[in-house]
Amino acid sequence: MINPKIPKIWYGGDYNPEQWDKATMDEDMRMFKLAGVDVATINVFSWARNQPDEESYHFEWLDDIMDRLAAEGVKVCLGTSTAAHPAWMAKKYPDILRVDYEGRKRKFGGRHNSCPNSPTYRKYAARMARNLAERYKDHPALAIWHVANEYGGYCYCDNCERQFRVWLKERYGTLEKLNAAWNSGFWGHTFYDWDEIVVPNALSEEFEGNRTFFQGISIDYRRFQSDSLLECYLLERDEIKRITPDIPVTTNLMGFYPELDYFKWAKHMDVVSWDNYPAIDTPVSFTAMSHNLMRGLKSGQPFMLMEQTPSVQNWSPYNSAKRPGVMRLWSYQAVAHGADTVMFFQLRRSIGACEKFHGALIEHVGHEHTRVFRECAELGQELQKLGDKILDARSNAKVAIMYDWENRWALELSSGPTKELKYVDEIHKYYAALYDQNIQTDIISVEEDFGKYDVVIAPVLYMVKPGVAKRIEQFVSDGGTFVTTFFSGIVNEHDLVTLGGYPGELRNVTGIWAEEIDALLPGQHNQIVMKQNSGALAGSYSCGILCDVIHAETAEVLAEYGADFYEGTPVLTKNRFGKGQAYYVGSSPDAAFLRDFITDLCDEQGVKPLLNTPEGVEVAERVKEGKSLLFVMNHNAEEMTFDAGSESLTDLLTDRALSGLVSIAGRGVMILERPVSN
Ligand code: GLA
Ligand code: ZN
Repeated sequence: MINPKIPKIWYGGDYNPEQWDKATMDEDMRMFKLAGVDVATINVFSWARNQPDEESYHFEWLDDIMDRLAAEGVKVCLGTSTAAHPAWMAKKYPDILRVDYEGRKRKFGGRHNSCPNSPTYRKYAARMARNLAERYKDHPALAIWHVANEYGGYCYCDNCERQFRVWLKERYGTLEKLNAAWNSGFWGHTFYDWDEIVVPNALSEEFEGNRTFFQGISIDYRRFQSDSLLECYLLERDEIKRITPDIPVTTNLMGFYPELDYFKWAKHMDVVSWDNYPAIDTPVSFTAMSHNLMRGLKSGQPFMLMEQTPSVQNWSPYNSAKRPGVMRLWSYQAVAHGADTVMFFQLRRSIGACEKFHGALIEHVGHEHTRVFRECAELGQELQKLGDKILDARSNAKVAIMYDWENRWALELSSGPTKELKYVDEIHKYYAALYDQNIQTDIISVEEDFGKYDVVIAPVLYMVKPGVAKRIEQFVSDGGTFVTTFFSGIVNEHDLVTLGGYPGELRNVTGIWAEEIDALLPGQHNQIVMKQNSGALAGSYSCGILCDVIHAETAEVLAEYGADFYEGTPVLTKNRFGKGQAYYVGSSPDAAFLRDFITDLCDEQGVKPLLNTPEGVEVAERVKEGKSLLFVMNHNAEEMTFDAGSESLTDLLTDRALSGLVSIAGRGVMILERPVSN
């Protein structure tokens, strides 16, 4: 349980009463009760209010709100207010201002705007966290700490440059090692003095935001900036933990956000929390996958849905309203994938600046007679009724997909072989194929214990970090099934090519080597032609983006290319290795191939769909105390029918017993309880 002070799925969200008068707050309290709100996130952007100058701190307003919420039985997710620095601080201490990618020194403005290596930022942020912890350590409303907000963005200032050199010294020890890691003999970039190293941005090695001449320094700069922001989080967390060791600490993450290595961050968070803002046309499988990534950050531990909009966003080009039922449906989707909270941004809409058109529980009209409020209040009541039945329930997946931020940086900074290759898209293709068949799938780090799974899939594992290949070999030789793809095993952690034939360190387990890599033009395709029609895989399929030209060594060839100078050479192989097997998919296949490939793979491994449902009806599972909770979610607007099987299942939302053919309303949700089958 995140905190036994709220022994149910938390319900509430961001609340900014500093923008309102007392009468409005009285109304808010009344409506919170109507909506079943039991948690409010406050003090996220109040630094300037809390600290109007260098020496004064004013928390009286916050005392009032904390006390008021406590009196109403609403618990507090307490922000530390350090996600946007005060204007006076920027004026007095310009070191707090970032320098951007183009090398321009920023002025005061925006948010998430502090240089992570600014001594001023670090000093005053830590001091703020300490002051807050001292002041509220015994407050009955305090349920969790919310440090800063959505850490992100890089800085390229002189302080960062100096700290980068310190970070590099720690990482490499000597310039010889650094020169070797960056292959700096290329283009005569050898460094003879640490001070010769400058930050990689548009003034030096990089261009167009994500292109670079030197992958080594650019990947290291991403690691360094991710670590720098993490240090800022840790400074605050340590102050808080010293004073309130028993209150959990989190900071809100952003799913597949590219800039921070969240696997590293999550080790320092008591509970992962994240902000989920899909657009109306974001595939629901992508949202599901993002939740699973957040769940995977701490090996399956439940996470917090810290923010979602009850209705609209303001920052997309087109901010469509969530259709009736969709807010509820997507809230349960989060819970189905491991969330133990359902929280919104925001509880009341502000009147000015850029978020006045962002949805809220309480709309500008100010009363509860709105569609959005009604839907929220109904969900609030349902969550109260569910009590603690779902809390702490885990995923029981037998299939996992590996995802790695450093691999993403390396892949996307690579010069060649193609600009079409998008790591997250390749991950999603495999995830979607599993999702469509209701196969429960975890998203895991390369450090995870693979032994928990029957099947581990590593799409485009371009960078193989130390020890990973050995652990994959162990997993397969113990009986596991491993799948990897084209453009895998190419480099080590420094982005230096592993010599001796691709896929380098994965060559042994896959039993193949790839001699050439061909990039196809947009819209250009090759074919995957099956050698035999067995199982679901039959005939031929389309593939594109990259084609590895492969030689099978110990592997069996299952399919060959259908065209071009490598027609008739292997594109899909299977290698028996110890008690298990490793597949290599030599190109980026179409959805039909992945559907059939996944069907065969799961059949072979005895991994069963949770249920068979029609298209658009998602099923996800959480397991607790020998019970399986099957979340059935109809993403279609129309009613659908599915086969719930012969045993009698109870829908926790209605207490109805169900079996056989069951219909589910358009955008409806069921939580079916059954005994765990394996
Ligand atoms: C983010 C932030 C919030 C708010 C919302 C709006 O998630 O954390 O402060 O700006 O976006 O969607
Ligand atoms: Zn900086």
